[in-house]
Amino acid sequence: MTQTLTFRRPDDWHVHFRDGTMLPSVVPWTAQQFARAIVMPNLVPPVVDVVGAKAYRERILAAVPRGLRFEPLMTAYLTDHSSADELERGYAEGVWVAAKLYPAKATTNSQFGVTDIAKLDPVFERMAKIGMKLLIHGEVADLSVDIFDREAEFIAAVLAPLVARHPGLKIVFEHITTSDAADFVLSRPTNMAATITPHHLVITRSDIFEHGIRPHLYCLPIAKRARHRDALRKAATSGDARFFLGTDSAPHPERDKLAACGCAGVFAAPTALSVYLQVFAEEGALDRFERFASLNGPAFYGLPVNGEIVTWTAGTEWRAPETVPGRDEQTGGGLIPFRAGQLLTWSEA
Ligand code: NCD
Ligand code: ZN
Repeated sequence: MTQTLTFRRPDDWHVHFRDGTMLPSVVPWTAQQFARAIVMPNLVPPVVDVVGAKAYRERILAAVPRGLRFEPLMTAYLTDHSSADELERGYAEGVWVAAKLYPAKATTNSQFGVTDIAKLDPVFERMAKIGMKLLIHGEVADLSVDIFDREAEFIAAVLAPLVARHPGLKIVFEHITTSDAADFVLSRPTNMAATITPHHLVITRSDIFEHGIRPHLYCLPIAKRARHRDALRKAATSGDARFFLGTDSAPHPERDKLAACGCAGVFAAPTALSVYLQVFAEEGALDRFERFASLNGPAFYGLPVNGEIVTWTAGTEWRAPETVPGRDEQTGGGLIPFRAGQLLTWSEA
């Protein structure tokens, strides 16, 4: 019998849409599957003020295909110079729902990020007071720390002290990749949560080097060993309210992915829900899918759940696109989605 699943339309709690000519190539994939998405602010230059966030929101909405209803939820990019007043103003005006902390130089476009996190304590204090969420890229940027240890090291060196200083702050530990991170979240009260990407639920670090180097599987935080992937699968499918869906869809033009120094980021959006559903089916946890995809996120953010119901089925196989055209595809501007050219099982009925 064909498996089908009916659930509230999900949201993506972590996505990179980029800007300019890339928006119309990228936004429709997310808007087709998700009702809302938390939009990352790591543009160049980053989204740091209320005016910039409003304008970026309008550019995203202009790229939503006619007939689709989609709500971008904006975030502020924290820098060494972030002002608590500006953050509060944007939060009170409903322009942004959260602020994103990138340790300086930890990942793509984080060069404007925070160099000394403790110096932002007054900002975190204000955020805790007004209930504004802090979203964290949880890796140390210290190049002397092994790349596979940077998340675990961040927990010990930065995150544990941060939550000790600000016990009331609502924090999302973004795109976790280790059992250490899942355990840390579970050890905390419910004001800490984590997003988990589709790719980190299915690949390991070995997949990045299978018969050669696979640049389209390279992202940050980098995929880890199988035991970590399996810990993430357990966390995501557990139904625990602290884990929810965030694709970290991070498109880069193919030429930038294939360069001698290739960019970090997996363009996860086009196949995201199909891959997540496959994981939940494999784990025998389809009955808990709606919590991960559609309920836990809104509960954490204090937003209403989506009213619309969608049905997905494992009935008809479909092939993920090999490439998603970018405006300048002829010069290597195309985008390669996760699972490009592969057969997938789940699709919207
Ligand atoms: C993201 C990007 O390209 O903006 N890259 C990635 O590998 N995930 C940044 C980020 O979320 O770390
Ligand atoms: Zn990201």
